[in-house]
Amino acid sequence: MHLELSDDHKMIQKTAREFAEKEVKPKAHEIDETSEFPRDTVKKAAELGFLGVYVPEQYGGAGFDHVAYSIVIEEISRVCASTGVILSVCNTLFCDPILRFGTEEQKKKYVAPHARGEKIGCYCLTEPQAGSDAGNQKSTAEKKGDGYLLNGTKAWVTNGAVADTAIVYAVTDPKKGSKGISCFIVESSFPGWKVTREEKKMGINATATAEISLQDCRVPKENLLGEENKGFSIALRTLDDGRVGIAAQATGIAQGALDESLRYSQERVAFGQPIANFQAIRFMLADMATEIEASRLLLRRAAWLQDQVGFSTIEARYTLEASLAKLFASEMAARACHKAVQIHGGYGYSRDYAVERMYRDQRITELYEGTSEIQRLVIARQLLGN
Ligand code: CAA
Repeated sequence: MHLELSDDHKMIQKTAREFAEKEVKPKAHEIDETSEFPRDTVKKAAELGFLGVYVPEQYGGAGFDHVAYSIVIEEISRVCASTGVILSVCNTLFCDPILRFGTEEQKKKYVAPHARGEKIGCYCLTEPQAGSDAGNQKSTAEKKGDGYLLNGTKAWVTNGAVADTAIVYAVTDPKKGSKGISCFIVESSFPGWKVTREEKKMGINATATAEISLQDCRVPKENLLGEENKGFSIALRTLDDGRVGIAAQATGIAQGALDESLRYSQERVAFGQPIANFQAIRFMLADMATEIEASRLLLRRAAWLQDQVGFSTIEARYTLEASLAKLFASEMAARACHKAVQIHGGYGYSRDYAVERMYRDQRITELYEGTSEIQRLVIARQLLGN
């Protein structure tokens, strides 16, 4: 693993940063206020290949690697965490499981239009009673004729209100607990798919996070992803990838908070001089920068491991490294955003300043795709082997 970015990665970073500054940042405040899903920005991101950064070109993607993906999500999240996670879900939670477990037909039919940004994907694992205990699924998939009938409720679905297609988990064998869960590719145009509620949240307001109701939703048998009753392992395997994306998002939010704090502390004058001259402020800036670098190294290592494993096998994993990166990055971002607000003083509490939004947006990174407690559980299991 190289600690320095390659020339290609530097080029992707430059492209992503320019796009973030020019197209994403100017809209970040507005979409936070209106909660409007940023369709135009997502479309423009797709033109740069950001909806399928590591998706092979033959399936409509940009054909880069996971390190490139982690760079893109970090750069976008640096200015807008909503846009960051929208892209992250499209790349990892939607395209990834199909690339890894899908048939050639499924990859051509579903990955390609989503990687090109013609369609939006989402991931339906969580249910009202199944958050951390994701194996406690109540949605059912009953075999009927040439397919399955899906019934149940899915909760906290990022992109859910606007998605064209979803990865959905449902129980095919109720006697087997989490070993009786299967995974399906479900189009939102299938009869029986209904958006029943859009969540009003503390942050990442523009992500169209929704509750989805499935009522006798008919799914053809060719849309079963992987083997019947092997869905839970697909869910957890996919979350290994998703967690690297959230580590990138959190690292980006923290970097954005540091950028704002560096600028503000050199402009703001108190006691006759810029507050950046005071040791109390300097120490906060130094601590933020140190932790962001540490987080980025964990992130790069996890992304590099993803590239070593590729899509070919499900045996080789980076479960430990993904959870280490996600846990550290999300909790680090909390500390960084706290300091950023502190440096901004009263202005940091105002909606007119970006750090107020970053402080709210960061909070979710400690919750979704596995809470910090779940990351610790996963890490401890990996260390102890049980
Ligand atoms: N990759 C592949 N398979 C895995 C795996 C992995 N990383 N981890 C476990 N498995 C396999 C196990 O080997 C086991 O297989 P068998 O049934 O063949 O034995 C099976 O999956 C079940 O594993 P566990 O017994 O370890 O499962 P558990 O019930 O003890 O749960 C858990 C483990 C870590 C608590 C898990 O439930 C978990 O991660 N919970 C958090 C869920 C989560 O992150 N939800 C976020 C949803 S997505 C989201 O946030 C919304 C969004 O839109 C952004």
